[in-house]
Amino acid sequence: MSMATTATADTTLPVVRAVRYVQALREGGSLPGLMETDNLGTYVVKFRGAGQGTAALVAEIVVGELGRRLGVRVPELALVDLDDAISRREPDPDIQQLMLASPGINLGMDFLPRALGYDGRGGRPPADDAAAVLWLDAFTANVDRSWRNPNLLIWHGDLWAIDHGASLVFHHGWPDVSAFAARAYPLDDHVLAPFAGHLSAAHGRLAPMITDELVSEVMALVPDEWLPVPPDVDGPNAIRRRYAEYLGERLAMADRWLPGAAS
Ligand SMILES: Nc1ncnc2c1ncn2[C@@H]1O[C@H](COP(=O)(O)OP(=O)(O)OP(=O)(O)O)[C@@H](O)[C@H]1O
Ligand SMILES: [Mg+2]
Repeated sequence: MSMATTATADTTLPVVRAVRYVQALREGGSLPGLMETDNLGTYVVKFRGAGQGTAALVAEIVVGELGRRLGVRVPELALVDLDDAISRREPDPDIQQLMLASPGINLGMDFLPRALGYDGRGGRPPADDAAAVLWLDAFTANVDRSWRNPNLLIWHGDLWAIDHGASLVFHHGWPDVSAFAARAYPLDDHVLAPFAGHLSAAHGRLAPMITDELVSEVMALVPDEWLPVPPDVDGPNAIRRRYAEYLGERLAMADRWLPGAAS
């Protein structure tokens, strides 16, 4: 039976089957690779066996899908099922090792062909786009949008956000909820800071969209087996509720982290 899923209901990510490893991407600390899949797609695949661990993949889904629902352009995500038979065909030993360490479900992002990396110098993005990305980053504590590593692409003239794996830092240590929620977001190095204008308007527009229902919907997209287990929490749905608690508290404490709010 084919694993290819044609329906992309909001409540699940499509599952596609990897057919061929095409090439490694030039950059990418987690050794993401370009793969063809059985839905005739080409995806940037982040392997669950990479050193970053599956928490980074959880952050990719949660923050990428929150962003999409806020109107940020994020390449479509899919779950990419990888069979050892495909991995064994890979001639590069390091890549083969990574693939063999990642049987089953991995994370795929629709590949945007000939997209250009945006480094803040190639023109001014629309202020609303810049503000939405910056607000999302501040809310989710994503520090990976720096001049050195912007993680933004320009495709068909539009700004696209990629690489949200470093956000949601709380899930690496599960600190006290308020410690995460109140942590200020440093703007200094953010590649879109010069273009975003004042963030209060973006906050007024976007914060009300982060409802409990939206957060549960997005948490439901994460495969159970990728969820990092906080101390004293049992079961995937309890873990999802713990994420929701951190995000809810973060939203409630916006005056502590929203750039410019305290000034
Ligand atoms: N959907 C996509 N379409 C086109 N190119 C992409 C896409 N996703 C990633 N890339 C390219 O691959 C590079 C690495 O991707 P990404 O930043 O997500 O990986 P990473 O391993 O988290 O990288 P790092 O930690 O080094 O920032 C990007 O800088 C970009 O050039
Ligand atoms: Mg990156």
